[in-house]
Amino acid sequence: MKKTFLILIAAVNFLIMGCQNGNKQEAATETKKDTAISNPTLIANANDFKDSLDGKAISLVYLTNKSGVQVAITNYGARLISLIVPDKNGKLTDVIVGSDKMVEFKSGKEGYFGAVVGRYANRIGHASFVLDGKKYSLAANNGPNSLHGGLKGFASVVWTINSQNDSSVQLSYASKDGEEGYPGNLTAKVRYTLSSSNELKIDYEATTDKKTVVNLTNHSYFNLNGQGSGSILQHTLQLNADHYTPVDSTLIPTGNIDAVAGTPFDFTKPTVIGSRIGEDNIQLKYGKGYDQNFVLNPSKNGELNFAARVTGDQSGIVMEVYTKEPGIQFYTGNFMQGAHTIKGGKKDDYRTAFCLETQHYPDSPNKPKFPSTILEPGKTYATSTVYKFSK
Ligand code: BGC
Repeated sequence: MKKTFLILIAAVNFLIMGCQNGNKQEAATETKKDTAISNPTLIANANDFKDSLDGKAISLVYLTNKSGVQVAITNYGARLISLIVPDKNGKLTDVIVGSDKMVEFKSGKEGYFGAVVGRYANRIGHASFVLDGKKYSLAANNGPNSLHGGLKGFASVVWTINSQNDSSVQLSYASKDGEEGYPGNLTAKVRYTLSSSNELKIDYEATTDKKTVVNLTNHSYFNLNGQGSGSILQHTLQLNADHYTPVDSTLIPTGNIDAVAGTPFDFTKPTVIGSRIGEDNIQLKYGKGYDQNFVLNPSKNGELNFAARVTGDQSGIVMEVYTKEPGIQFYTGNFMQGAHTIKGGKKDDYRTAFCLETQHYPDSPNKPKFPSTILEPGKTYATSTVYKFSK
């Protein structure tokens, strides 16, 4: 009896100590998180994302590294909200354009600021495609075409946060069979990882239970001089692309793969973005500026491939893009019209941001000669992109 009692006391003590240790560990993590956010006025505030949609909780998480890079990500659309890097003078600069308040995103016309777009990034012509003889119809939300996954694509849903620490967060979204017209229950996973050498890596994964198409990207709007600092036309861009996919007047690829040499699309050497944007060129007219997919020169080993390098003319901030994807959409914010309120109460004015969206080519489901975007059951879609910052 006495022995049982002693064992019981020992067990209770063990439990109490365990709890205390647990609390201590939690407190330590909390303190670390608080001190890690050294510039609370610059980075998005977690309180501005305490919300819910369709019964799912929305929140904001932070990634930090020892060089002072800080990232804020919300599970609403798996969006990148803030990305703070030092400029050439050491000034901390947020290079992500868009809102830092959930209330703005909830207004219903939030655009794709910072979001993971899917199930199919960019356009599918005539909002339909045929798979194994069956026609699938999608919402035509961009003229006659489907853009960025349809009416309620992956940018406008609440993702689940699966795991999180100071350098990495993994989110997932289960898209139902038939959602937005696409076949198959698709589970998408996205992991953001911040390295100590100022790289933000995005790993994408997806599996399906029925043959489908998938093309995921991140639709961040960047201004390397700092969000809200005006035009991006004086930034310098280099693209590792000797070819691009020209489009028709509705921005659907014609199917041709054209050389960039001798055209305003030649960014094979560092070139000021705005230097040829106003040229009399039918492709620039269709896009109202740059809004085309560039065909990346293939990498030697099929691994992460250098895609782009951009430099902010005022900040000296350099962003390099590496990807496993075959293409990249270069978009100069030609449809930005000051219609959205962004950080600091400013507006998303014309060409005050650029996007570099790594991807498979637009309209691939209808273009048999383009690299395939089909995902079969039992296979895993897996791709990665890295945005690397230096000065
Ligand atoms: C498209 C643009 C579009 C923008 C915002 C880009 O990926 O290519 O045409 O305006 O996203 O939706």
